[in-house]
Amino acid sequence: MQHPAATPDIDRAATRRPGATPELSVIIPTFNEAGNVRAITQALESALSGIRFELVFVDDDSTDGTRDILAELADTRGNLRVIHRVGRRGLATAVTEGMLSTTAPYLAVIDADLQHDERVLPDMLALLTSGEADLVVGSRYTAGGGIGDWDANRARVSTAATRLARLITSADLTDPMSGFFAISRPAFYSAVRDLSGQGYKILLDIAASAKQPLRIRELPYQFRTRQAGESKLDTLIIWEYLLLLVDKIIGHIVPARFLSFMFIGGLGVFVHMAVLGSLVALGEPSFLWAQALATLTAMVFNFFVNNMLTYRDRRLRGFIGLSRGLLTFVLACSVGAIANVGIADYLFDDALYNWFSAGLAGIAVGVVWNYAATSVFTWRAR
Ligand code: GDD
Ligand code: MN
Repeated sequence: MQHPAATPDIDRAATRRPGATPELSVIIPTFNEAGNVRAITQALESALSGIRFELVFVDDDSTDGTRDILAELADTRGNLRVIHRVGRRGLATAVTEGMLSTTAPYLAVIDADLQHDERVLPDMLALLTSGEADLVVGSRYTAGGGIGDWDANRARVSTAATRLARLITSADLTDPMSGFFAISRPAFYSAVRDLSGQGYKILLDIAASAKQPLRIRELPYQFRTRQAGESKLDTLIIWEYLLLLVDKIIGHIVPARFLSFMFIGGLGVFVHMAVLGSLVALGEPSFLWAQALATLTAMVFNFFVNNMLTYRDRRLRGFIGLSRGLLTFVLACSVGAIANVGIADYLFDDALYNWFSAGLAGIAVGVVWNYAATSVFTWRAR
């Protein structure tokens, strides 16, 4: 789909760069792809013969020996690099960092598992170099494309997600979920500072973040069957996708992470009341104990759900990681509870506030504290 509007703020001349810099940098995110990296490297080399290209693998600390194979491949090639990230996960940020690591004027992304058709890349590049497009997307949903052997369920989810994408971008994309595309460096730069980095949908993130509408073209391809290994996308990517939408819609006012934290806190209230109600119904004689137990249960619930959803990219794992996390979370939230009660009490005494607004203000301070403190002590960014 072509955008007729010229976009003067993008410095298109900056892409003409003679010299030793590769013309095209292909970013390949990997997480446990030992069975595929050799084959994708060979497939890309034969598809791109005649083009000055480099391959940048961005690996999120794979545990299956992917990097050993990459090191072997790099040893006999001058144009293959590896970025090794530790303590972080996420397709979108992996792709962004790969793109930021190169000075090539044209950038492409392709999955390592051979599901995308690398033979489309030269046509993508041609549309970029001719200046016809800023962004060329491999599409499964345009004439000539296809979704291969995806089951009906995954196909339905993909269709729904494609419709929802309209909420955050007016770009005319038949396949905004695509993980296969090529973009000019200036167009990428026009979006990079506003990327949400949330989840997997880097293309949609770029389209929604670009300063002015990008000139977009789509090229069809047939989604192939994964070569080796298994998909890294589980059902929780639906949650990540919703966070991306929320972040793009109101993220400039309230961070999506904070909204997620509050939402889960809200669920925690239900957990709390359910435990409290059951203990009272069971005839627990001491209300104090019942309330304390309910509070603790809600905290543990909040810790694990936030660890799974809000901080998916920095998820704590293993016995030590989880224990440390839970401990700091409970400590931070206990301080939050004291602040909550203290502030509410102070405001209520002030007489300007009735019980309701004093109570709400206490909760607000507690929630903000809990979010800030746990983001520093429990889920510290590495
Ligand atoms: N560095 C890094 N970090 N790479 C990752 C991560 C991560 O957290 N998660 C997945 N990858 C890599 C995989 O190793 C693979 O090379 C690629 O990203 C795609 O992951 P898959 O697990 O194979 O995803 P999929 O096949 O279910 O979905 C793909 O195709 C769809 C259609 O184009 C993805 O590209 C989707 O984004 C896309 O919608
Ligand atoms: Mn795949």
